[in-house]
Amino acid sequence: MGPILILYYSRHGSTKRLADAIAHGAMAELSSMEANAISASPATAASFVRPEVIVRSVASLNINSNSSSDQGSGEENADASLKEANPNAAPTVTLQELEQCSALALGSPTRFGNMAAPVKHFLDSTSSQWLKGSLINKPACVFTSSSSMHGGQESTLLSMMIPLFHHGMVMCGLPYSEPALHHTRSGGSPYGVSHVALDNAVTLTEDEKSLCIAQGKRLANLASALWHANNQETTHGA
Ligand SMILES: Cc1cc2nc3c(=O)[nH]c(=O)nc-3n(C[C@H](O)[C@H](O)[C@H](O)COP(=O)(O)O)c2cc1C
Repeated sequence: MGPILILYYSRHGSTKRLADAIAHGAMAELSSMEANAISASPATAASFVRPEVIVRSVASLNINSNSSSDQGSGEENADASLKEANPNAAPTVTLQELEQCSALALGSPTRFGNMAAPVKHFLDSTSSQWLKGSLINKPACVFTSSSSMHGGQESTLLSMMIPLFHHGMVMCGLPYSEPALHHTRSGGSPYGVSHVALDNAVTLTEDEKSLCIAQGKRLANLASALWHANNQETTHGA
């Protein structure tokens, strides 16, 4: 079973905070699924396959407002400046990692009510995965951070889903059985988790954090269920 891929772009670290919390939720769920499988029976324990959870970032583009055209156009420069702004950034994703994942959580800052250009640029480089159908029937969720409460989080989340539908992914949001969805006064929506970052210096609220954990758990659960269902089908059909 391929890894659960938590993939994000983050210029100032807020989207990264969401990514890390989602990864935490996914890992917690996998640990509890493994413990259940082990305590159920030796046979269930033996058949349980635990995927890795990997956190990766999307390469930057040289379009930052503080970069001028005479600073060179290489993405290397942009990546170096991103690393400088956020030294803890995750390793840059490869197309092979995308192709081999068993589930995807994709995150972007809200930019003019839409995903950031580096995320779109990355998605636009995935024609080969689309042609091969590499992502079909794999679960996916989306997440975002914006500076203001009503600055377009939902339009960003919905528009990020569109390319993933083209890839045949199974979108998973959050159900209203999550108590924090009812009372959050910060981020969080049924379309996916979010963070109201203000000046990007604030940490996730308790509601945002608990929704990230729930989203990570849900994604891990679906990844495992779909993978085991598809694998059983293959075995029966063989
Ligand atoms: C070009 C640009 C456009 C933005 N557009 C919006 C917007 O439409 N709504 C909003 O609330 N914030 C907007 N922001 C603010 C970012 O969404 C916000 O700072 C976010 O938390 C950054 O995430 P990061 O820390 O992961 O980079 C914009 C920022 C930039 C640079």
